[in-house]
Amino acid sequence: MKLECPPEEVKRIAALCTTRWHRDYTRIKLRSDPVYAAALREITGTHLPVLDIGCGIGLLAMYLRGAGYTAPVTGFDYDTEKIQAARRMAERSGFTDLNYAAGDARREMPDFSGHVIILDILQFFTPAEQDALLALAAARVAPGGKLIIRSGLREATWRHRVTILGDWIAKITFWMKAAPVCYPTREQFERVLTQQGLQVHLEPMWGGTPFNNYLIVAERQA
Ligand SMILES: C[S@@+](CC[C@H](N)C(=O)[O-])C[C@H]1O[C@@H](n2cnc3c(N)ncnc32)[C@H](O)[C@@H]1O
Repeated sequence: MKLECPPEEVKRIAALCTTRWHRDYTRIKLRSDPVYAAALREITGTHLPVLDIGCGIGLLAMYLRGAGYTAPVTGFDYDTEKIQAARRMAERSGFTDLNYAAGDARREMPDFSGHVIILDILQFFTPAEQDALLALAAARVAPGGKLIIRSGLREATWRHRVTILGDWIAKITFWMKAAPVCYPTREQFERVLTQQGLQVHLEPMWGGTPFNNYLIVAERQA
């Protein structure tokens, strides 16, 4: 297993997309967004299945497979077109044990035990829905597993204001079905995830972007 998905594999994965827009998006995201390598780093050395809530077109699963992570990966998203695109890519990839399901995480979530990953979706939920989603996700973290989240945090900073703008642009350009509703707080992650028996750690994940993103890793002791 590698510490990142090699550039030639990113190129091959992007070529699996059936539209030009998805191809360009996949190539740019997998090359430039540090969150996929960060998630890989967190689960390296384990062989637990992965549940990706709000998986979009399934880029995380592709990245993990491209780096040699072979445990089953399940992607879950309420956007049926993205789920179809993820399934098409998986079929054409030759990778095995990739599953995708369509559903609204505010109302349902697959039965699961392993690592749970939530990238960039909590802003679409109300605070009560965020708490409920975090609790449901935490309940699916196996002993020795992790809940890995990337989210903007609600803070009085210019980065937070730029993050809101970016999410509105995604909505106006129809890339996202929903507009941002509310950004979670540091205290909220610590409160909800500690109550669920997880040890929580937050660190900024700004990379080269102007966004107020954080990586939140919550671990259940083996
Ligand atoms: C910003 S995208 C992130 C996609 C993916 N996590 C990634 O990193 O490539 C947010 C995703 O969350 C999904 N989403 C938003 N609200 C959802 C909900 N209530 N249930 C399931 N998926 C949802 C959207 O359809 C979208 O694919």
